[in-house]
Amino acid sequence: MSKKVLLSGIKPTGRPHIGNYFGAMKQFVDLSNDYDSYIFIADYHALNFIQNKTEMKENIINVLLDYLAIGLDPKKVTLYKQSDISEHTELAWIFDTITTMPYLMRAHAYKDAEAKNKEIVVGTFNYPMLMATDILLYSPDVVPVGADQKQHVEISRDTAEKFNRIFGDTFKLPELMIIKEVAVVPGTDGRKMSKSYNNTVPLFAEYEEIKKAVMSIVTDSEEGIPKNVYAIHNLLRPASELLPIYKSKTGKYKELKELLIEDLEKFIAPMRERRKEFAKDIPKALAILKAGGEKAKKVASKKMDEVREKIGVNVYEK
Ligand code: ADP
Ligand code: TRP
Repeated sequence: MSKKVLLSGIKPTGRPHIGNYFGAMKQFVDLSNDYDSYIFIADYHALNFIQNKTEMKENIINVLLDYLAIGLDPKKVTLYKQSDISEHTELAWIFDTITTMPYLMRAHAYKDAEAKNKEIVVGTFNYPMLMATDILLYSPDVVPVGADQKQHVEISRDTAEKFNRIFGDTFKLPELMIIKEVAVVPGTDGRKMSKSYNNTVPLFAEYEEIKKAVMSIVTDSEEGIPKNVYAIHNLLRPASELLPIYKSKTGKYKELKELLIEDLEKFIAPMRERRKEFAKDIPKALAILKAGGEKAKKVASKKMDEVREKIGVNVYEK
C-alpha cells in the first residue's frame, strides 16, 4: 500500500535553536518514516522580507545544511525549494482571480501587519494564495504546521473548494496536522526560547557556546531544583532519570549546569559534526536540492496541466 503524502514548508530564516528543533524540525524527520514527504524551502515567501542577494543565498544553503544535518533523508523526503518550481507562482495568479480582497483581508498575518501600521507589500497580502499553491499542487494528505499557520492551511482548503466548485473537481482538500505541542522550550532567561529574545541554545552550537549559554541560565528554583535548567535537561533525559539526580544535588546549581553542558554536548556534537561534513561539499548538498526540485516539478507540472485544461486555456490539440 502506498504511503500517505505529507507536505510542509520552511522559511529560510536565521540559525535554528534547540526550541526550533524539538518544537518543529525533529518532527519532520520522525514523520518522514511514515509518510511520503515533500519538504520545501519557501524562498519566494521569504522574498517578502529578505531582499538581499547574499543573505538569500546564504539562508537557503544554511537551512538545507541544517535539515540534512538533523537527518532528513533525501531517500525518504523530496527536499526542494519553491523557486525551482514555476508552477507555484503560475497557479497563484489563477487563485488570485477566484479570491476576493475582503476574504484575504481577514487573514491574521495581514491584520497583524496592518495593526502595526506597516506598509504592506502585495506579496504579504497574497501570501496565503502562494501558500495554497505550495500545498495543492502536490495533493498531500496532511500538512503539519505550527499553530500559527492553521489559518493559512484553512485558506488553502477554502481555495481548493472554491476552485473545484467553479471548474470541477481538481484539488484534494488537505488535512491540517498541528504539530504536537511539545512543551514550549524555555530560553536561558526563562521566557520562550526565541531568536528574537537572544536567549537561545543554538542547535549546532560549539562546546564553548553551549557552556556560555548554560552558564547564563537564570536559576529560579522550586525546592532547590532550578526549573529552567531542568526543563532544558528534560528534553534530553526522562524525568525518571533526572529527578533523582536533581534531588540529590538540590541547590548545587553549578554542578547541575555542568551536567547539562555535558549532556547537551553529547546530543549536539554528532549533528554539529554532520553539518560540518555537509558544509565541506556544498555542491553535493545543492545537488540533493536540485534533484528534489526535479522530482517535485514533475508532480506540480502534471497538476498544472490539469488546471490549464479545467480553466479552458488549453486550446491546442494534444
Ligand atoms: P523563533 O521564535 O526563534 O523566531 P520561529 O518562530 O521561527 O522561532 O519558529 C519556528 C518553529 O519552531 C515553529 O514551528 C515554532 O513553533 C517552533 N519553536 C520556536 N521556538 C520554540 C520553543 N521555544 N519551543 C518549542 N517550539 C518552538
Ligand atoms: N508559512 C509557513 C511559515 O511561515 C511556511 C510555509 C510556506 C508552509 N508554504 C507552506 C508551510 C506550505 C506548510 C505548507 O512557517
